[in-house]
Amino acid sequence: MAARSGESLFVTPKPVALMNRVLQIGTDKSEPEIVLDFFAGSASFAHAVMDLNSSENSKRHYICVQIPEPMEDAEVTIADIGKERIRRAAKKIADARDGKLDLEDSGALDLGFKVFKLDRSNFKIWDGAEAAASDNLGKQLEMHVNHMVEASTPEDILYELLLKSGFPLTTSIDKRQMPGGEVYAIAGGALIICLEKNITPELIDAIAEDNPLQVICLDEGFNGNDQLKANAVQTFKARAEAEEREIVFRTV
Ligand SMILES: C[S@@+](CC[C@H](N)C(=O)[O-])C[C@H]1O[C@@H](n2cnc3c(N)ncnc32)[C@H](O)[C@@H]1O
Repeated sequence: MAARSGESLFVTPKPVALMNRVLQIGTDKSEPEIVLDFFAGSASFAHAVMDLNSSENSKRHYICVQIPEPMEDAEVTIADIGKERIRRAAKKIADARDGKLDLEDSGALDLGFKVFKLDRSNFKIWDGAEAAASDNLGKQLEMHVNHMVEASTPEDILYELLLKSGFPLTTSIDKRQMPGGEVYAIAGGALIICLEKNITPELIDAIAEDNPLQVICLDEGFNGNDQLKANAVQTFKARAEAEEREIVFRTV
């Protein structure tokens, strides 16, 4: 897609008031409806959703999708402009509500948002064709001694595991400090994701005591200590039996 300049980019700016009306017609204010704008541009729809939620005390949600289309005259992309617009609109709405009496007991208005970018997996993919070439087998094996992509952040890995475990991106995630390390409790603790690089028996015990349904740990967290991993399997098994249910334990 060709880059566009700031001047010609927003040739058809949509008034937020008009978008509000569209939202009022198309969505039910008493339901937590989700509005999807697949070509979000400068995020005027997100702005309108927040605006309407504020004036109607509704809980509509929005999903904006935007490619990082570059602009001609600036370093930023259209997606950057959309994100900044959401931040500023949220601040303006929050400021305007500040100090007003909440006569309708509307509760806190959710003006937060998360940004996700499509990316490759954080786990290296075994390349069979590459490995088949005799010179490259050693290189492929070496690459997979640690099969995580080096540049991956804990957040990258966390969200990939979350999605692969069947949870949506909107699932609640709490960081929990436990003896021996930190874990992420997904959906109130149904799934525990542990990204610690030095897993200890104390940490495994603490996770088991939390009674999760699923536990995912990094394989590298066991540092090649098979006994520690085997003990972890036994710890979760014993806990599951005591609680008369199953705990699915996986390493990645
Ligand atoms: C006019 S803007 C959208 C305006 C916005 N929906 C609003 O309400 O103000 C359209 C956006 O869609 C994106 N877009 C257009 N065609 C696309 C395509 N084929 N694939 C992905 N994105 C596209 C462009 O980056 C552009 O920023």
